[in-house]
Amino acid sequence: MKGLFSAVVASAITGVFAAPSPIEQGPVTAAPVVERAAAATCSTAVTLNGNPFSGRSFYANKEFSKEVETAAAAMTDTSLQAAASKVASVGTFLWMDTRARISVLEDNLKDVPCGTIGMYVIYDLPGRDCAAKASNGELAVGDIATYKSEYIDPIVAIFKKYPNTAIALVIEPDSLPNLVTNSDKQACKDSASGYREGVAYAFKSLNLPNIAMYVDAGHGGWLGWNDNLKPGAKELADVYKKAGSPKQVRGYATNVAGWNAWDLSPGEFSKATDAQWNKAQNEKQYVALFSPALKSAGMPSQAIVDTGRNAVTGLRKEWGDWCNVNGAGFGVRPSSTTGDTNTDAFVWVKPGGESDGTSDTGATRYDSYCGKDDAFKPAPEAGTWNQAYFEMLVKNAKPAF
Ligand code: GLC
Repeated sequence: MKGLFSAVVASAITGVFAAPSPIEQGPVTAAPVVERAAAATCSTAVTLNGNPFSGRSFYANKEFSKEVETAAAAMTDTSLQAAASKVASVGTFLWMDTRARISVLEDNLKDVPCGTIGMYVIYDLPGRDCAAKASNGELAVGDIATYKSEYIDPIVAIFKKYPNTAIALVIEPDSLPNLVTNSDKQACKDSASGYREGVAYAFKSLNLPNIAMYVDAGHGGWLGWNDNLKPGAKELADVYKKAGSPKQVRGYATNVAGWNAWDLSPGEFSKATDAQWNKAQNEKQYVALFSPALKSAGMPSQAIVDTGRNAVTGLRKEWGDWCNVNGAGFGVRPSSTTGDTNTDAFVWVKPGGESDGTSDTGATRYDSYCGKDDAFKPAPEAGTWNQAYFEMLVKNAKPAF
């Protein structure tokens, strides 16, 4: 989750962070493996209309469970280890962030029990992450043919084998919001047509009865600025209509991999000098503003909100600080009980523990945001496990595990 459109210009002061002291490997006891009841898949086809999360459990995919179980087994603090092991059972989204990653999709789909929803992120557009560096992807700008034939099409083929399984998808985090606020950047200019064509193709191709799609809409500190709400809604709705207004597009995802509170009031940045230009000072307020804007623009407007790492507020120096925010904690667990008619569910889209980007200043994908004084260091490449960061998320979790 990146991007901020604000008058505030961040001044990055590189703080010196003591890397967490290496923990002596004490007696390692294997963490309990997630008990996977051999629950059956549905025997009839699933058709999703209405809130796809209500009445369903959130599937804990094997990839994240394995990461967490391995992490817990490496911990010597037994009370923290017990808490950490519980994270393995939390349903998070599985990111299809390369073509190679498609190889684990079916194994994380075939066992999704009836009454449970599988959750996946579509994330491999050509020129990916055009306004940053940490998550630049494998496909070059212009390679939309490969995105369609070697990425979307094989994923669709796998999903089509499981019509009895409920599936929720987040479509291309950061992509369309970048075209709203970062089109001054050459990389985003160059990527724009591919983003729009790719997202439209994803909408059309993934429009299957057992799938509910939520396209990324940034967060309150991004498209929530007064001047961004309408252009943001228009950008998303134009692509939706270009795709033929597919029935299974349910709305949008917000705060993906983000830090904003759900309903903290006053909001973290409501005292900033430019706060008068942003009424979306928490994600509940953002949804209350963005859903009607999206509806007026002609698109379904139900939201899902990422609460995976938003337990602790007041950590960011600037609203737009997005990388490995230091001091963060796992937030409220995924649930379809949100108390908000526009919001289908609180979800954990970003799997906490996986890095947002490398802190190695010499790396190709080093982004200065991952070097800011509020960014945890050291941090590995985006998507790679950061044990110390995971342990911090467990320690700071609200509610506690
Ligand atoms: C980042 C990475 C991506 C990873 C995702 C989830 O966006 O770029 O590779 O899958 O986070 O951790």
